[in-house]
Amino acid sequence: AEPTPEAAVPQAGDPALTLLHRIGTTDPASLDDYRAHGGYTALRRAFALGPAGVIREVTDAGLVGRGGAAFPTGRKWQATAAQPDHPHHLVCNADESEPGTFKDRVLMEGDPYALVEAMTVAAYATGAHKGHLYLRGEYPRALARLTHAIAQARARGLLGDDVMGQGYAFDIEIRRGAGAYVCGEETALFNSIEGHRGEPRSKPPFPVEKGLFGKPTVANNVETLVNVLPVLTMGAQAYAAIGTPGSPGPKLFCVSGSVTRPGVYELPFGATLGELLTLAGVRDGLRAVLLGGAAGGFVRPDELDIPLTFEGTREAGTTLGSGAVMAFGDTVPLPRLLLRIAEFFRDESCGQCVPCRVGTVRQEEALHRIAERTGAAAAGDIALLREVGRTMRDASICGLGQTAWNAVESAIDRLGAYE
Ligand code: NAI
Ligand code: SF4
Repeated sequence: AEPTPEAAVPQAGDPALTLLHRIGTTDPASLDDYRAHGGYTALRRAFALGPAGVIREVTDAGLVGRGGAAFPTGRKWQATAAQPDHPHHLVCNADESEPGTFKDRVLMEGDPYALVEAMTVAAYATGAHKGHLYLRGEYPRALARLTHAIAQARARGLLGDDVMGQGYAFDIEIRRGAGAYVCGEETALFNSIEGHRGEPRSKPPFPVEKGLFGKPTVANNVETLVNVLPVLTMGAQAYAAIGTPGSPGPKLFCVSGSVTRPGVYELPFGATLGELLTLAGVRDGLRAVLLGGAAGGFVRPDELDIPLTFEGTREAGTTLGSGAVMAFGDTVPLPRLLLRIAEFFRDESCGQCVPCRVGTVRQEEALHRIAERTGAAAAGDIALLREVGRTMRDASICGLGQTAWNAVESAIDRLGAYE
């Protein structure tokens, strides 16, 4: 197994932190240790509030999804809870696959009971009795720790027919992904669990109405779910006071590349990109920063005052996405890097729809031609890339095709990659 990316040294285990405070200070195999460090107080409060009260807290806290799309969590939960069709399902999307993204891995390996507790809260609020944890197949340590945590919680009455003696039944099943990036798209993930090919479905209908097995389903990212615990223990108001009005709460950022201290950093939304890179020890000769992973976009070294919020990055014409921050020094061969990103999308396209199936191939071919000319674009290459990119963005079924041109476009427009 690969080594675990460590939570950043000045961050992990600090009691002042909201999401990482147990990482490295509690034993991830011990339910007693988890409880001694605040574990299961959120679920107790959830039972006291009742399902509608929990949804109100999550809505008032302004929690938005941390997988990358920032959809309001309270709205999603409310929409599912209100569906007359039953059973309702809870899906935890732990198929973390965005290049440069490893925050969910740190949470699951370092604090597995937090996810088990958070899933229980989410299921209780939305009327689900079964939780499906879809875990990236390449995370064997997370699998072992979560499997152990689920078994311990079951043995101690924190999962099962009568959770905490409250007369509420809930259990969790882990399903492992098999290495397809597209299976992180929620509807492809449902198909994968159901035993079909991992191909995205058209939306609407949204999963809140028709999701896993055609039933109302809440699908949330790991980090989103874990945020529900401080929402309940601190209260919505105190939680919302962290971060900014548009992006409340704390955020995990995954910093990698040309820095001396790569790792996962917890900061309140609103810190700037420059502040984060200073913490991570950015090296001299910075050429570009890729925000949001391969599906995101490049920014220049003179743009480091961009606030790390969903609204701030949007305003700056880029995206925060999953919180991946990859720093590239001035020795990086940009044409080769862009070609690598294009290869990735071509490889991961499920092939279901034409714009993405053909577009990712055409994009890679054009970038390959440019890379062979050591980065010089011939007349027509850039125009072709733009035309193909626009078509993928406008006409692809799912986010994979819609974002497959983002990084290349930003490298051309913001970095002047081929000038
Ligand atoms: P989306 O914007 O289509 O949906 C986001 C969520 O909101 C989904 O759960 C969707 O069901 C729900 N939703 C949207 N409109 C709704 C409505 N009207 N009613 C009820 N629910 C609604 O985005 P998508 O395709 O789910 O995610 C795209 C993001 O995923 C990108 O920002 C990208 O950065 C990120 N991503 C993250 C990866 C990771 O490893 N964390 C990997 C790949 C992409
Ligand atoms: Fe498949 Fe790409 Fe179409 Fe998504 S956009 S459904 S990955 S072919």
